[in-house]
Amino acid sequence: MAGDLTIGDLTFLTGAFLRLRSLVEGLLLGASQLAGQAQYLDDLFSFFAIAPGIRSPEAPAPFPVPVREGFVFDDVGYRYPGQERWTVRHLSLAIRAGEVVALVGENGAGKTTIVKLLARLYDPSEGRILLDGRELRDYGLDELRSRIGIIFQDFVRFDLTASENIAIGRIAAREDAARIERAASRALADGVVAKLPAGYGQRLGRRFEDGVDLSGGEWQKVAIARAYMRDAAVLILDEPTAALDARAEAEVFARFGDLAADRTAILISHRFSTVRRADRIFVLADGKVLESGSHAELVAARGRYAELFDLQAAGYR
Ligand SMILES: Nc1ncnc2c1ncn2[C@@H]1O[C@H](COP(=O)(O)OP(=O)(O)OP(=O)(O)O)[C@@H](O)[C@H]1O
Ligand SMILES: [Mg+2]
Repeated sequence: MAGDLTIGDLTFLTGAFLRLRSLVEGLLLGASQLAGQAQYLDDLFSFFAIAPGIRSPEAPAPFPVPVREGFVFDDVGYRYPGQERWTVRHLSLAIRAGEVVALVGENGAGKTTIVKLLARLYDPSEGRILLDGRELRDYGLDELRSRIGIIFQDFVRFDLTASENIAIGRIAAREDAARIERAASRALADGVVAKLPAGYGQRLGRRFEDGVDLSGGEWQKVAIARAYMRDAAVLILDEPTAALDARAEAEVFARFGDLAADRTAILISHRFSTVRRADRIFVLADGKVLESGSHAELVAARGRYAELFDLQAAGYR
């Protein structure tokens, strides 16, 4: 109105202000989004900062090769983090080198927990676990674990090839076809592989289009082959034959017997046909050893073992 600005100037300035406004708005929005995303980044970095609670000692003791005495659980207690209840308490048992030991007990008795303690996936909350007279935590973690071949009851079915699925037991040997075939034949997985269209190169599982799924027992044979890939001093099979048919079970154990000749083996099973082959059987209840002895001794003792055995045997009569 004063005539200082022309209509053109005015139009230009209004446009410029409008643009400035949206730019400033965008800038502020960007800043607030940055702050929002930074929170996720915080989660990521705190995740990276989590250190494993179970570590190797500074100067690990040399792993005994061969194992001379074996494992000793000395008044061991274990409580899962955040739980009131003791899963294992006042547990004392000895697993001698070269022995085949079976753990039996009802669901939740603590069998799987005990073998996890043995592989040092957890450290006991109380008491000590010794290997050849030294505490388990004195040995190097990697060496200890590489010396233990263990197949858990909830083993993983990888959507990889048959040969890779077996080589998981010892990834360094994944190119070693002869070793993989040997492990497969010990676990009776060779027969499973023979039926696959692409043999050892066949992808397993249903996730991919070219995958072939196996039956529960066939997967179990593949998983058992993983344990045989290792130069394990200790072989642990948690429910190894639950899904195997009667003939396969008998055969797996016949081969297991040959193999376990110079090794320590721990079997966990609810099948007494499997359990009775062990040199020594520990009957667990509430995280403690209730009874122990050979099959014949335990049956003669007429305790919990005899009761469970009779219960299962009655079904076959
Ligand atoms: N990760 C976990 N966190 C908390 N509690 C657990 C965990 N794993 C197992 N438990 C508890 O510990 C107890 C023992 O479990 P464990 O798996 O050792 O039993 P099990 O003897 O192997 O049984 P099953 O015969 O069914 O395999 C169970 O009561 C279970 O609830
Ligand atoms: Mg279990």
